[in-house]
Amino acid sequence: MSDKIYIFDTTLRDGEQSPGASMNMQEKFRLAQQLVKLNVDIIEAGFPVASAGDFECVKYIADNIKGVQVAGLARCHEKDIDTAWEALKNGDNPRIHTFLATSDIHLKHKLRMSREQVLERAVAMVKRAAGYTSNVEFSAEDASRSDLDFVCKVFEAVIDAGATTLNFPDTTGYALPDEFGKQILYLINNIPNIHKAVLSVHCHNDLGLATANSLAAISNGARQVECTLNGIGERAGNTAMEEVVMGLRTRAGNLPYHTEVVTEHIHASSRMVTTITGLPVQPNKAIVGANAFAHESGIHQDGMLKERSTYEIMDPSHIGLNKSNLVLGKHSGRHALKDRVESMGYGLTGEELDRVFVRFKEVADVKKEMFDEDLEAILMDEVLRIPEAYQLLSMGVMGGSKTLPTAAVRLLIDGEEFQKAVIGIGPIDASFRAIAEMTGTSSQLQYFSVSSITGGTDAQGEVMVRIEEEGKVVVGQGSDPDIVTAAAKAYLNGLNRLVFLNKGAK
Ligand code: KIV
Ligand code: ZN
Repeated sequence: MSDKIYIFDTTLRDGEQSPGASMNMQEKFRLAQQLVKLNVDIIEAGFPVASAGDFECVKYIADNIKGVQVAGLARCHEKDIDTAWEALKNGDNPRIHTFLATSDIHLKHKLRMSREQVLERAVAMVKRAAGYTSNVEFSAEDASRSDLDFVCKVFEAVIDAGATTLNFPDTTGYALPDEFGKQILYLINNIPNIHKAVLSVHCHNDLGLATANSLAAISNGARQVECTLNGIGERAGNTAMEEVVMGLRTRAGNLPYHTEVVTEHIHASSRMVTTITGLPVQPNKAIVGANAFAHESGIHQDGMLKERSTYEIMDPSHIGLNKSNLVLGKHSGRHALKDRVESMGYGLTGEELDRVFVRFKEVADVKKEMFDEDLEAILMDEVLRIPEAYQLLSMGVMGGSKTLPTAAVRLLIDGEEFQKAVIGIGPIDASFRAIAEMTGTSSQLQYFSVSSITGGTDAQGEVMVRIEEEGKVVVGQGSDPDIVTAAAKAYLNGLNRLVFLNKGAK
């Protein structure tokens, strides 16, 4: 049997650090349930000391998600470790993940600590964490730019102090695969007690090498990979889970290692991350991009028709991509809808299903065929919705080449009805102005995109906005067969998220 590679998913922690990707508790919980379906080994649920909201999320996930290790991040501070434990303690085999930088750059400019102080602090905090649980991970932040002998010294000492996983992050995404692999081998050959712990890597993608570095690390002895779905994360993101997992599955002959991830759930999981965070996946993204299995050129199509393996190295069904993801229509019943959304990873309560069904019928009435993407948009609106301080009651717009674009919008704001008619540069601009005037928002629109969810003129329009207020960035999404209404919904969704964030809620 080949060696197992542990998959440590940090979509909910490092992934959430992507600008605009902050998720509320309900969204994190849904994703955590999906990660359990994927059968990852460890879910890093958040950074409990960071905020009351983060604490609540980690606690809720540790309390309610079973059959998987739940980890919480903690700096090497007493308060961080105690708080992490408080959040995690009801979990199955909970893990405290504590970290401290080891590179001279970080020691000098950020921590203002000597190497001796770092060593001492790391040992003391790992001991503290080990007093709570036997499942302790220590990360040497910026390890790939650190003096390797110093990292060896710290790792040896923290293993003696009780760490069971040692993580070697490429925090800045600086490493090259060959070099990174050699660093891992060096650790294995120079830490006398390394066999008592699992060696892990955590790569960032600043040079586009996170997956290559992670695979090089595995070939040289790492047995845990930290990663996120769709590779979301700080700056250029983290190692994409789907790439590592499918890399190992597809090239098993050269890479004799395995994960226990149920790869057939990858596609649905990737879509769920996009739906929840609003962060689109680039079409040519490996494994989960819309074009990852599309063959455009005539020569390729001809080859594919003759024999798939001419141009296809992976079977799309292995990531759960079935060509038949058609189709519900207006005659489909509640049962068919329930089956469909379950296969997309959404287990709904009866009340949620009722709401989705009503909306489904409304959209299906104007649109002949309903694809998974249409359902995702409805789920986003009806199930993953956050409390709505601002609710759209109705709107009407006037546009055209010879009219002044005007929007008349009615909103419910904290239970009171408001209405406004405003002229703008176009109907969307007019409706945004009306909403901004009624809500009194001081936020700035940073990004606006509109796309059609599926093909055809009857397709639903999907709008995504990114808005910023006092340094807080949120993404808002809305969908509707009418694109001006979709835009207004997206704007209101973003504003509601800001209200939610400002209340300190998660
Ligand atoms: O990138 C990094 O170094 C991290 C650590 C906290 C593991 O995210
Ligand atoms: Zn990171």
